[in-house]
Amino acid sequence: MLTEVIPPLTVRSPAAHTDHPRYAKRLHKVVRRLVPECHVRFVLSESGSSKGAAMVTAVAGRLHSQRLQVCHTLAPFSLSPGQLQQVRDRMRVDLERGLRKGTHTGTPVKMLPSFVCTLPSGNEWGKYLALDLGGTNFRVMVVKIRSGLRRSVRIYNKIYAIPLEIMQGTGEELFDHIVQCIADFLDYMGMKNTRLPLGFTFSFPCRQTGIDKGALVSWTKGFKATDCEGHDVVDMLREAIKRKNEFDLDIVAVVNDTVGTMMTCAYEDPKCEIGLIAGTGSNVCYMEEMRNIKCMEGNEGRMCVNTEWGGFGDDGALEDICTKFDQEVDEGSLNMGKQRFEKMTSGMYLGEIVRQILIDLTSRGLLFRGRITERLKTPGIFETRFLSQIESDRLALLQVRAILQQLGLDSTCDDSIIVKEVCGVVSRRAAQLCGAGLAAIVDKIRENRGLDHLDITVGVDGTLYKLHPHFSTILKETVKALAPLCDVTFILSEDGSGKGAALITAVACSLCRGV
Ligand code: GLC
Repeated sequence: MLTEVIPPLTVRSPAAHTDHPRYAKRLHKVVRRLVPECHVRFVLSESGSSKGAAMVTAVAGRLHSQRLQVCHTLAPFSLSPGQLQQVRDRMRVDLERGLRKGTHTGTPVKMLPSFVCTLPSGNEWGKYLALDLGGTNFRVMVVKIRSGLRRSVRIYNKIYAIPLEIMQGTGEELFDHIVQCIADFLDYMGMKNTRLPLGFTFSFPCRQTGIDKGALVSWTKGFKATDCEGHDVVDMLREAIKRKNEFDLDIVAVVNDTVGTMMTCAYEDPKCEIGLIAGTGSNVCYMEEMRNIKCMEGNEGRMCVNTEWGGFGDDGALEDICTKFDQEVDEGSLNMGKQRFEKMTSGMYLGEIVRQILIDLTSRGLLFRGRITERLKTPGIFETRFLSQIESDRLALLQVRAILQQLGLDSTCDDSIIVKEVCGVVSRRAAQLCGAGLAAIVDKIRENRGLDHLDITVGVDGTLYKLHPHFSTILKETVKALAPLCDVTFILSEDGSGKGAALITAVACSLCRGV
């Protein structure tokens, strides 16, 4: 026989029932008969209703005060429509400032000419080598582009990790590592002796003086290799190839990832004149009128400008919306005081903002039973993929708890609700800020062209945009609300970085060939 052990149940009887002399005895008997398998104990309650009400009130009061404190902490992350309009307007001012200033001055939004003046026509063809450096990985690719009826782009690639000590070592070590990866790839493809034209996607701010010349302005994201800032990236690559002395490359173009993304998407949709990256970093490029780019000679036509909008706010323009958590993230970063907009909007930093808020709430006893674990003290634990999972609508709270458990955070169900809420406000603000920035850009393009209405496409890449369940929706809503005279379509870039660099190389080669 299967017997279940059921713990004794205690029932508190209201004092009124003690008035009848046999009431209690009968009640106990009936209960015992009805549920003989349960052991029920009856205890008399002293002044039950008032004490109970007081206890319920106390618990509710504690929960209410907790809730209030959490809400109060998260309130600065909710931006009003007025605040978002201000962000849009300030971005617009800084876009203009960046365009006006010469190449020598440092404005927060750098507005770097890319020397890409034409979008792909669809008639590009050829076989190219492409490199992609910008995150924790380095990718080497062979890209085959066909035109005409058999129009297609084929990519063969290999991905190499860039260890932290190389990212933050010397410039020579970094470029030697890159060249070692290229050598391995060429061996693997059996191509050591074929000299293909090469496009280099280098996803950092570069002050270009030609399509194949660009000096690194400053490292961003997790990079900090020494002796690179101020030096020409293509020269550094050429010197490393010389040092290796095993093969030669014909470097045709150096390209920012935003520009590569725009070109990749423009290959599919000619209305694509903007490239957006919402991933580890945050940045935008767009086609600007030559007459507005003051550091360039010539007034005819357009050129793609890499805005480097990540630096927006570096002069304090975002001070009124910066929270103490943004401040802490900035102080703990490799480039304090720099890339303030990027630190509020990109995957590399959103998890850090969340972590800072969680530490604060825990230290005030509002989370994780007040225990700040070693895990919570570890920078970088909340990667974009975790934020995306936690915020997924289809995820039950238990699953959120499981994710937190994976991160070494032991949470209750209440904790999971709060963590989800924290992730939500941080990613919502990021999407809204990107939307406000983008609204400034589309409206500027509309005005540049003297149009009452602009139809334009944005090519997008980046894990935050692609993986996060709400980021793209909020971004689009914000652009719509803040740039009502523009119809903006978003298309995803497939394999943007490599394909884009190859397309730019193809366009540059065809110009040289006079095609
Ligand atoms: C950083 C870089 C920028 C790049 C962006 C996205 O903001 O400075 O050049 O486009 O990250 O990768």
